[in-house]
Order: sequence, then C-alpha cells, then structure tokens
Amino acid sequence: MAAAAARLLPLLLLACLWRGAAPGTPELRRPPARIGVIGAGIGGTSVAYFLRQKFGKDVRIDVFERGEVGGRLASINLEGKYYEAGGSVIHPLNLHMKHFVKELGLSAPLCQGGLMGVYNGDEFVFEESSWYIWNFLKLIWHYGLNALRMYMWVEEILDKFMRIYRYQSHDYAFSSNEGLLHALGGADFIQLLNQTIDESMQKASFSQKFINEMVTPVMRVNYGQGTSINGFVGVVSLAGADSGLWSVEGGNKLVCTGLLSASKAQLIPGTVISLEEKTRQNGRSGGTMKQYEVLYNSTAGRTSDLYDIILIATPLHRKIANITFRNFKPPIPDFSSPYQQTVATFVHGHINASFFGYQDPSQFLLSAIFTTENPKLFISSIGIVSPVQDKLLGPPVWKVFSPQPLTKEQMNMLFSSYDSMAVKKWLAYPHYSPPEKVPPVILHDQMYFVNSIEWVASAMEMSAISAKNAALLAYHRWYNKEDMIDQEDLHERLKTEL
Ligand SMILES: Cc1cc2nc3c(=O)[nH]c(=O)nc-3n(C[C@H](O)[C@H](O)[C@H](O)COP(=O)(O)OP(=O)(O)OC[C@H]3O[C@@H](n4cnc5c(N)ncnc54)[C@H](O)[C@@H]3O)c2cc1C
Ligand SMILES: *[C@@H]1O[C@H](CO)[C@@H](O)[C@H](O)[C@H]1NC(C)=O
Ligand SMILES: *[C@@H]1O[C@H](CO)[C@@H](O)[C@H](O)[C@H]1NC(C)=O
Ligand SMILES: *[C@@H]1O[C@H](CO)[C@@H](O)[C@H](O)[C@H]1NC(C)=O
Ligand SMILES: *[C@@H]1O[C@H](CO)[C@@H](O)[C@H](O)[C@H]1NC(C)=O
Repeated sequence: MAAAAARLLPLLLLACLWRGAAPGTPELRRPPARIGVIGAGIGGTSVAYFLRQKFGKDVRIDVFERGEVGGRLASINLEGKYYEAGGSVIHPLNLHMKHFVKELGLSAPLCQGGLMGVYNGDEFVFEESSWYIWNFLKLIWHYGLNALRMYMWVEEILDKFMRIYRYQSHDYAFSSNEGLLHALGGADFIQLLNQTIDESMQKASFSQKFINEMVTPVMRVNYGQGTSINGFVGVVSLAGADSGLWSVEGGNKLVCTGLLSASKAQLIPGTVISLEEKTRQNGRSGGTMKQYEVLYNSTAGRTSDLYDIILIATPLHRKIANITFRNFKPPIPDFSSPYQQTVATFVHGHINASFFGYQDPSQFLLSAIFTTENPKLFISSIGIVSPVQDKLLGPPVWKVFSPQPLTKEQMNMLFSSYDSMAVKKWLAYPHYSPPEKVPPVILHDQMYFVNSIEWVASAMEMSAISAKNAALLAYHRWYNKEDMIDQEDLHERLKTEL
C-alpha cells in the first residue's frame, strides 16, 4: 500500500502541476504551425498583424487574396491622379487605425471640408455658408436644439464604445459580437441593433424633421441607405460626420500593404474555393488532430494546404467570396445576406448648378451635396474630392455615390460639361435591416469570421477591432485560456486595475 502510494505520489503531483498550470501556460499545447487568413483587406492584414503579436515569430501565417491587397480600400485613376474609391475617411478616435499609421510611418493629413448643402430633389432644405455663426443660427432656427443634442447623444455612445480599446489592451476577447457590444454598453447597445436609427432617435426625442433632413442624408452618403439601417451603424455613421476626419497620404490601402509586411505573413495570390475539416492521426501521441484544408485556385492551378487555425476576413456573400464549406458537422450556415450596391463615379468636370435649382451658377459655392429620401433622386451624394497625394494640387474632381451606374442622360444632367470619368461599382456594405442578425464569430473549433462585425457596422476601424478580437480569441481558445474570454464587468474591474 505504502509503496504503491509512494509510486503514485510523483504521478499525482505531476498531474496536479499539469492541471494547476493549465490556464496560464501555453507550453502545454503545441503552438499552431500554420494559420490561414482569407482576404487581404484591412480586416485580413490587421488580423495577420495581431496574430503575429500573439502567436510569436515561429508560426507560419498565409494570407490568401484573390484581388488586390486593400480590398475595399482602393484607389482609382483619373487623368493620372489617384482618388479613394472605397473607404475614404477615418475618425480621429479610431485608435487602431491611428496606431497602424504611426507604427508604419505613414502620414495622415486632415480632410478639408467645404460648404455642404442638403437637397431634397426640389430644393435645398439646408445650405451652409462660409459664415460659421450664421450656420449655427440657421441650425437652431430650423431644428431647435436637435443638432446640439445629437452631438451629445453620439458622444455618449462613442464614449462607451471606446471601452473596447481598454479591454483589448488587457487582452480580453469576446466570442460573439453581441457579447462584445454588451460588454461596452449593456442592453442599450443590443437594443440599438434591434431597431432602426429612426426609431432610436425618435425614442431619444429627436424631431422627425431633423431626422429626415439632417440624419437621413448622412446615412445615405455613408451607407447608401436611409434611416431604416440599425441604430448602431446609424450612430457610427453620425460620428463620421464629425470634424477632424483624416485619411492616409498616398492612399488608405497603404495601411494594408504595410500591415502585411509588418506581420511577416506570406501573401498567396489566389481564390479560395472551399474549406474542409480534416482529421489526421497524430503519429506520436496516437490521438487525432484536426486541421482545415484550404482549396484555392491560383496561376499555378488548383492547390490545397492544411492549417491549424483559419480566419475568414471577407464577407461570405456568394457574389463576394463564394467559399464552400465541405463536410462540416454541423454544417456551416449560409451567411449570404444581401450587400448594398454603391457605385462611385469620379468626374473631372463642371457641375450643372441649374440642375440643383440655381438660376445663377456663379452663386453656387457648395462642395458637397447630401440628399434626403426621394424616389426621383438618382444620386445619394456628390462632393469634391482631393487626390490621395498632393491633395491641394488636383483639378476639381467630383465623386458621385449612386445605387445604380449613372446613365449618359443622368451624367448630362448632373454636369454641364466634363472631360473624363472613372467608375467603381461595389458590393459596399451590408444592406441593414434590424433586428439585425449578426453572424457568429466562431464558425467552427478554430475557424473565425472577422467580417461578422460588419452587421453591427461596416467601417475600417470596425474591421480592425474585430481583427484584434479574433486574434485574441484564436489565441485564448488555442491555449484554453477561458478566463480571458467573455468576462463580465470588465469596465468595473479594469477601473481599479491600472
Ligand atoms: C464606397 C465605400 C465607401 C466607404 N467609406 C468608408 C469610410 O469613409 N470610412 C470607413 O471607415 N469605412 C468606409 N467604408 C467601409 C470600409 O471600406 C470597409 O468596412 C472595410 O474596408 C472592409 O475591410 P475588410 O478587410 O473587412 O473587407 P474587404 O476590404 O472587402 O477585404 C476582403 C478581401 O477578401 C478578398 N477575397 C474575397 N473572397 C476571396 C476568396 N474566395 N479568396 C481570396 N480572397 C478573397 C477580397 O478580394 C478582398 O480583398 C466604405 C466602403 C465602400 C465600399
Ligand atoms: C433583440 O432582438 C432579439 C430577437 O431578434 C431578442 O432575442 C433580444 O432579446 C432583443 N434584445 C433587446 C435588448 O431588445
Ligand atoms: C483559376 O485560375 C485560373 C488562372 O488564374 C483561371 O483561368 C481560372 O478561371 C480559375 N478557375 C476558377 C474555377 O476560378
Ligand atoms: C460559386 O462556386 C461554385 C463552385 O464552387 C459555382 O458552381 C457557382 O457558380 C459559384 N457562384 C458564384 C455566384 O460565383
Ligand atoms: C442642367 O440642368 C437643367 C435643369 O435640370 C437642364 O435643363 C439642363 O439640360 C442641364 N444640362 C446642362 C448642360 O445645362
């Protein structure tokens, strides 16, 4: 008995040590050998960057990209100058984007704004003048204190949203976007996802006139949709009308190429066709090992590779990614919810001021026209843009957003004359329709969906936040650090922890 116990003792001790050590020490599980990232937009390149930070230098990270690095951050050429064709402006409080730009040594000038007007299809319901005080009085005259109150309302939500940076700097991750939102702003934030921005603002006692004439135009310019989009993306959109917006000198996509090289990931040019779970007999331990097979098509033809962890950093809409999930049990659901088409048309020419009701074109001084909801309007917005480089030197170029490509007749109505144009058609962002069903972040054991967050709100910073969350989540789940996932009361706990 005693002898047996003596022999058992070291084993027991070992077992205890083993178990005792389990939550904190990564040594107990082998590090992953290979991680695959699908998509090299801001989501995919920033997830590669954060994965490298967490998993260290030895893991191989492959990033698949079937088009150009940058994805929806892209520039378009017009008469030898380049313009932001997709994601263009960045908010001063987008801390991940700010950090990337600093880390990569890029420069980030402020976007200069001109005078703005809101057109309802018949007339301007609001027009800025170059006299600041006059604009302010006009706002008060038209909308009472709505504008000021909106500023404070958005600020309060943004304040809570900013908690994410603190949670993430302490390495906390969330297994769902609802969980993430709840940890930031409680049931109020979830509620925003469940109702339209129109309903959210009515509940907060904003006037319908203000919503129609000031809020709708901002939704239309940022998301190509009206106030039927969910309250959360609506607030993100309103924050995008703040001052202090900036963009990256040389083009926002430079952040993506920069992050990709900083992450020391390998770029694999090719189209991912399918993902399949593979179970392999592990020779040494006799156990089984799960991996994911990525089948992709490149110039070298069809190839496949095995990965321990997969991060999907593209929308899974059929018309965008068309990735088939093979032999998953249970099957991976179809996340092909609709994406909103937005066409960006860049025009070097003269706007037709009389189309917007001006008798005397020399009186027309606006550099941005937003629009209200009106079926006869074929554009969402039109505004002057600067090239991504040498911002002050470009010719006057207008960027038009519209749901459909502009016809020749429409071009001739909008412009009194033009020299050249360039067009980029996007499946731009989700077509929002609350109550929003946000897809899961965890699609399978070690397979994560970075773009799930787009259903909360689609923006560069949202992709970066989701990328950091997914990298942390992948890391904690690989090493069984449950105590770093879905923690309650982080706000209170981190207050005392400096
Ligand atoms: C017109 C427009 C204006 C916008 N304005 C702003 C703005 O001012 N501010 C802002 O913050 N956001 C803006 N956005 C939103 C912002 O651009 C996006 O939210 C963000 O760029 C999304 O990045 P992502 O990496 O998540 O996705 P994406 O950039 O779409 O990246 C996904 C990548 O995956 C690749 N891919 C897809 N399928 C496969 C496959 N099967 N195999 C291999 N690769 C694949 C794609 O080619 C793509 O490069 C705008 C978007 C548009 C379209
Ligand atoms: C939001 O709506 C979902 C159903 O779509 C519901 O389950 C949930 O309880 C709602 N949450 C809030 C805070 O209203
Ligand atoms: C695979 O790639 C090749 C070359 O890049 C292309 O010609 C072919 O159409 C692609 N096939 C599929 C199924 O995407
Ligand atoms: C998606 O891919 C499948 C084959 O994997 C193909 O049959 C189908 O036509 C593709 N759909 C689209 C919209 O490209
Ligand atoms: C400009 O707009 C007016 C009013 O819609 C229209 O009559 C005219 O044809 C347009 N085009 C030019 C070149 O003026």
